[in-house]
Amino acid sequence: MPRGGLGVREAGAMADAAVTAQPLSLPEELVLVLLNEQTGYFHQVPGWDLNCAVIGAVLAELSLQSRVDTDMESLTVVDRTETGDPALDPILKDIADEPVQRSTRYWIERLALHAESIIDRTLDHLVELEILEHHDGDYWTLARNRRYADLYGYSGEGTAGQFIKARISEVLFTDAIPDPRELIVICLVHTCDVFRFIYELDEEMEERIKFICNLDQIGRSMADAVEHNIASPLLRRSALSKQIPRVALHRLLRSPHLRTGNLPALFADLAEQYGPVFELRPPFRPPMLFLAGARTNRWVHRNGRLHLRSRDYFADFEKIYGASGVLPSLDGADHFRLRRAMSPAYSRGRLEGRLDQVYAQAREFMASWTVGETLPATRTCRRMINAQISPLSVSVDTQDIIDDLMAYKERALNTHIAKVLPKFMLNTPGMKRRAKAVDALLERVQSVHTPAQRAGCPRNLADDLLSLHASDPQLVPESNLRFALSAALIASVYLGDALSFSVYAMASRPALHERIRSEADVLFEDGDPEAEDFSPSNIDVTQRFVTECLRMYPIVPMSMRDVMNSFVVEGYEIPVGKRVYIAQTATHFMDDVFPDPFSFDIDRYRPPRSEHLGPGYAPYGLGTHRCLGSRWMDLQLAVNLLMIARYFTLEVSPANHDLRFSPFPSMKPSRKLKFRIAAQKRELSAGQLAGRK
Ligand code: HEM
Repeated sequence: MPRGGLGVREAGAMADAAVTAQPLSLPEELVLVLLNEQTGYFHQVPGWDLNCAVIGAVLAELSLQSRVDTDMESLTVVDRTETGDPALDPILKDIADEPVQRSTRYWIERLALHAESIIDRTLDHLVELEILEHHDGDYWTLARNRRYADLYGYSGEGTAGQFIKARISEVLFTDAIPDPRELIVICLVHTCDVFRFIYELDEEMEERIKFICNLDQIGRSMADAVEHNIASPLLRRSALSKQIPRVALHRLLRSPHLRTGNLPALFADLAEQYGPVFELRPPFRPPMLFLAGARTNRWVHRNGRLHLRSRDYFADFEKIYGASGVLPSLDGADHFRLRRAMSPAYSRGRLEGRLDQVYAQAREFMASWTVGETLPATRTCRRMINAQISPLSVSVDTQDIIDDLMAYKERALNTHIAKVLPKFMLNTPGMKRRAKAVDALLERVQSVHTPAQRAGCPRNLADDLLSLHASDPQLVPESNLRFALSAALIASVYLGDALSFSVYAMASRPALHERIRSEADVLFEDGDPEAEDFSPSNIDVTQRFVTECLRMYPIVPMSMRDVMNSFVVEGYEIPVGKRVYIAQTATHFMDDVFPDPFSFDIDRYRPPRSEHLGPGYAPYGLGTHRCLGSRWMDLQLAVNLLMIARYFTLEVSPANHDLRFSPFPSMKPSRKLKFRIAAQKRELSAGQLAGRK
């Protein structure tokens, strides 16, 4: 007789709900209960406690599947046949291979180090099952609308988290004797001390939880391992932390990469000499603490949100625009909420729906190019991208003011974030004049975003921002619109600079120029391609080429954060209040991550090499603030390269130009880089210039 009606809706109420009839494993149930839906991340559980709970969940699942048996003294394997679950089988094998019988607590403590990889596998599996949704920036949400059909005697509808909590509630709020699975879920949640986030606990309930946890051998062993935590003194920071090495200034000044402006390569060199954590003491500036390496990248990506915040370093900069709490400067739950709300505006799908406009704008821009002409790389590419991004994101033309907008923003970044210039340099007469471009932009955007004018138009970033402001003026206050509405155009500088580097890479490698053109010719042969034509196989070379350009020429080589909770990374203790420079792209020039890192090699992204899969490849940043538009950018970059290659052959001018970087406030080619239009391969016809309807 199925139980149900436990706060989850009755089965059958929603015909279109996905049905789950297969039981979840205990590690999966644990992960689901730990998810905090307000932040898109997990309730924070001290590392050791969580590790014990995860291993406890694995052992309990093995016990429920009759692979192991437990008593007061020992845990024994009764059947070593694999379960087929990759989170369980390696643990089963470890225990089965042990010649001596050990206690449950022994195994919990010994296997605790494997907990992280078990969590990773469990998360992946829940995403595969479409029970969890994974979002860029390492956020997870529970998929809505699932139906549980006679699972553990329950039927109901809701999220997986609601389903599990409903089962737990029934055990806690009645005198029912729990079945073994619910009993162990309660022990796991108790071990992680997460009940206090789910219920308002009173004394009576705490007693009942303790009573239930005592009923189970594995539950008791987990509690013992957590309570008598012999490992924790070893993890005490001061005992283990190392002295942070200081970079000798003469070594820094002798680096060839400092002269060329190649910051990622410079940081890779320093990390090789000093290790993954080092301090620079530039004259007349506070010391700068750097993290550089695949392991520190991984740490930042996974744990950064709990220890590092963005608010402080960004505050000065956003204030220039009269703003406070814009997307890049938010942390925690507010950041999660705004990021989710704005995701559609930066999605690849949004660009895919407007490809006709991209084609038309790109052709119109290139129509003025003549054979033999020489073009300044940075300015040309920035303007080419702005010609597209401006109408796409805010529905106005801004070619007349974009130079001022960019110059003002770059100066503000240099004075108020990178701090390579004194603050008063933002108030020179020239900069004051340029600041007016921000107001001009705001006026223009607002004047075309009235409901009647927007009726029937495809939705753009400004529509999303203005409607979010109307519906949630606390999250997006009017005072933030000046920044938020100009941010997309300002960010288009990054894409423009990425295009400059990519065109440079193409123009200086004629064989690859030809291969990109061949892909373009197939794509555009029968008219302009549709979004689905940009499939991985159709743009295989171009996509790998773009991936390699973003590795060798990352636009944002590092990120800044401030420490809000002290932490230990790679054995170094980083105290609260410290500003940290995360050189996330230093790995792009590390031999052990990208062999022969200075050679331009698009085959490194082919299986089995697939060198970009991992935390060492980070052109779009790491963790919660990872570029929201990365998938949009990849596509727009590829489309522009393909179109340039289809119509023109470009050369670097002069041919022997030695590429130098201008690294502040973000990486771009030095002003001296120029392209020569060597040949025009086909006409930009009038019909094509107008674009397709
Ligand atoms: C190839 C060009 C681009 C690169 C390499 C790039 C890279 C990055 C990086 C590294 C970050 C993280 C910064 C940090 O952690 O502090 C970031 C954030 C962001 N990017 Fe991009 N970006 C590019 C273009 C763009 C463009 C054109 C837009 C918008 C039109 C955009 C939208 C964003 C947003 C909204 C964030 C903030 C996300 C958040 O704070 O949650 N990006 N980008």
